[in-house]
Amino acid sequence: MQRIVSGMRPTGKLHLGHYLGVIDNWVKLQDNFDCYFFVADWHALTTKYDKTENLKQDILDVTMDWLACGVDPNKATIYVQSQIPEIAELHLYLSMITPQNWVERDPTLKDMAKILKSKEGMASQINYGLMGYPVLMTADILMFNANFVPVGIDQVAHVELTRDIARRFNNLYNCNFFNEPQPKLNNCSLICGLDGNKMGKSFNNDIKISDTDEVTSKKIMSAITDRSRLRKDDPGHPNECEVAFKYWNIFGDEKDIEKIKFECENGLRGCADCKRQLGLKINNHMAEIREKRKYYENNQEIVKQILNDGATKARNEAKSILKEIRSIIKMY
Ligand code: TRP
Repeated sequence: MQRIVSGMRPTGKLHLGHYLGVIDNWVKLQDNFDCYFFVADWHALTTKYDKTENLKQDILDVTMDWLACGVDPNKATIYVQSQIPEIAELHLYLSMITPQNWVERDPTLKDMAKILKSKEGMASQINYGLMGYPVLMTADILMFNANFVPVGIDQVAHVELTRDIARRFNNLYNCNFFNEPQPKLNNCSLICGLDGNKMGKSFNNDIKISDTDEVTSKKIMSAITDRSRLRKDDPGHPNECEVAFKYWNIFGDEKDIEKIKFECENGLRGCADCKRQLGLKINNHMAEIREKRKYYENNQEIVKQILNDGATKARNEAKSILKEIRSIIKMY
């Protein structure tokens, strides 16, 4: 079976953008590929080395969201990156063969550096570890000799670098050991935030997977609609509705969408009413996931056990691959 590796940084509770854009895709992939899904806690340290107080809980929160959404430990291997020290050793070997200008030209890293530089004091500093971000990511992927890496468009440059490093390793050591893994773009609908911009935790415009029905409904009531519509019996323009109608297109079935469109265009349903119904629709869609999320919240020892089992499995594989790598490099 072909192999997939993908990871997520432990940013705490995940939102609907993660669910629809990434996790739902993973759930489909786990049936047809040998999947390795991990929480990238070392990557979190590249910028948040001084804010580790919530790291453990953030890791559990991310994992619980995955499990609730249907990532299945019986199908996929789920683990925490730092539980696999072999990745750190591979990162070291790869760092020896990666030209400095290859990492310096990495566009995602450049963006991260720009954001950091605009901060004050120590937070503006770019550390050695951050420069290694794409090489560490390469180690995550090559550690399991992946064929595909499901990522968002912003991460494609990193996977290109992974291919370059894999090729360089094979050339340098005169072998054909590493696959050149392909990015697998998540072709799911991108859900925007409540304000119409990209949904993101730090933009305060997200709906969490774990939000209660009440919180979700309340958030939905704040979603932007058709700004040109002033009164509820004015004819509305669903296609100019910046958020609510887009959500309908994701969560509604064809009948819902047609009905909402008709009522909106004919001034038969106001935006508040539309959003009240939309909130119910989303809560309905999320009900089973949220119930599962609650179960794991109340049984976190099960979550820890899943992560430990996953780490054991991943580590066994990593150890055997690393042994071959050491022999190829001719380490002592
Ligand atoms: N850099 C990725 C992100 O920020 C997370 C990540 C780390 C990753 N290692 C990976 C993704 C390996 C895919 C494969 O989203």
